[in-house]
Amino acid sequence: MKVSYVDSGPKDAQAILFIHGFPLNKTMWNMQLNALKSNYRTIAYDVRGHGDSAIGSEDFSIELFVKDLIDFLDALKIEKIMLCGLSMGGYIALNAVLNHPSRFDGLILCDTNCAADSPETVEKRMNTIENIKNEGIEKYANESVKNLFAPSSFQTKTSEIKEAGDMIMGTSQLAIFRTLHALASRKETCSRLSEIKTPTLILVGKEDKITPPETAKVIHEGIDGAKLFILDDAGHLSNMENPTQFNKHISDFISQMKRAPQEEKSRV
Ligand code: MLT
Repeated sequence: MKVSYVDSGPKDAQAILFIHGFPLNKTMWNMQLNALKSNYRTIAYDVRGHGDSAIGSEDFSIELFVKDLIDFLDALKIEKIMLCGLSMGGYIALNAVLNHPSRFDGLILCDTNCAADSPETVEKRMNTIENIKNEGIEKYANESVKNLFAPSSFQTKTSEIKEAGDMIMGTSQLAIFRTLHALASRKETCSRLSEIKTPTLILVGKEDKITPPETAKVIHEGIDGAKLFILDDAGHLSNMENPTQFNKHISDFISQMKRAPQEEKSRV
């Protein structure tokens, strides 16, 4: 399986693995990698079928994406890493941490959800497949970006909006169809959130229409000690719409994590 990825920053620093949303690719993290790679090892990869990674022959599922992620870490010989996943990337990150807790030392969940799809959402996803077959990918890309960004971003973030549209149009129809099936059949993880003992940061755009702040609050209540921040001037792609706040929360989270064991020791 060919996996396309970028790996930059000091190899001995805290490592963060970024997992993109659907149907996007690793370039959605460019503003995080550029800002954070001087202090952290930053890795972003393309999920199977997205960007430049191979599609393979199997049907897609969140479980398959998690297996790919663990195989990828093994190939890079990384024992432990922090995961940062947005939306679909968050579904993958949640499943990975729940099923392989020893491989992760931090979890950043962005604009994501622990619930499974409702029957209405499943139906919408199946209609999307038919619509793309009948009307093509461009119409789908144009409609999708309207939901991905906050209304104000249509004035201020025109290049980011174009980039997101290009990422969608650069994804093959087969990968989109297989991923829609994987998303529609994914299992809920809300009932397992209390099992998560990994330090967790939750970020969400204030104007996220797809996974709004109320959804993030459910995850926040479920994970002991998790921190939640709601980002201004941001919709679903909060990392692209407000990279300044987004990146600062990541740096602060890592600094606090590094300080916490010291504070524990000094109290003893
Ligand atoms: C995403 O951004 O990854 C998608 O909105 C996820 C979804 O459709 O559930």
